[in-house]
Amino acid sequence: MNEVSLNLGRSEFGNAENSGNVLSEKEAFELLEDWVKNEKLIVHMRQVAHLMKSFAKEKGMNDQDQHRWFLAGLLHDADWDQWPDQHCRKIIEELESRNIDPEIIRAIASHGPRYFGVEPVTEMDKMLYAFDELSGFIHAYSLMRPTGYEGMEAKGVKKRMKDKTFAAQVSREDIRDASERAGISIDDLINFVISHQPQALN
Ligand SMILES: [Fe+2]
Ligand SMILES: [Fe+2]
Repeated sequence: MNEVSLNLGRSEFGNAENSGNVLSEKEAFELLEDWVKNEKLIVHMRQVAHLMKSFAKEKGMNDQDQHRWFLAGLLHDADWDQWPDQHCRKIIEELESRNIDPEIIRAIASHGPRYFGVEPVTEMDKMLYAFDELSGFIHAYSLMRPTGYEGMEAKGVKKRMKDKTFAAQVSREDIRDASERAGISIDDLINFVISHQPQALN
C-alpha cells in the first residue's frame, strides 16, 4: 500500500453543529450491508466496536457516548472492502454528508496516522487506534489456539508478537506507538481485549 496515496491532507472533520448526531445501530449495520461483502472484515469491525463501547462503559460514560464510541469502531474500515485505495476518505465523506458527529468522523480519520496523516488527539481517537491492530492480532491468535480465548494470557500474545511470520500484516510498530499515545501499557491493552473480545459477536 502506498502510504502517501491515503493521506487525507486535512485535519478538520465534520461540523461542530452536528455534535451528538449519530446513526442508529440499525442504520450503521445497513451501511455495512451495502458496502461490505467480506465477512471477516465485518467481524473485525464488530470486534473493534465492542471494545470501544466496553471501554467507554468502563470509563463511566453514558449510553449516548458509548454509542458514539461503538459507531467509530463499527464504521472505521467500512470502505476498505470495495475502495481500498480510498480507505478512510470514502467513509469520512459519507458520514460528513450525513451530518454525523465530528468526533466520530475524526476518530475514524485518525485510526492510522501513518497512512492518513491525521494525529490521534481525543481519547476516542487514541483508543480506536490502540484497539484496531491489537484486536485483529488477538483474534488471529485465538483462531490458532485449540481453546480459542479460553486460558489466553498476555504473555502468550506477546510471544506471538515476536514471531514476525505470524499475522505478518499486523504492524507491531503501530501497536507500540498506539499504546504509548494512549498512555496504556501493551499488557493492559492486551488484557482488556482478551477479557472483552469474546463477547463481541454475541
Ligand atoms: Fe483501517
Ligand atoms: Fe481496522
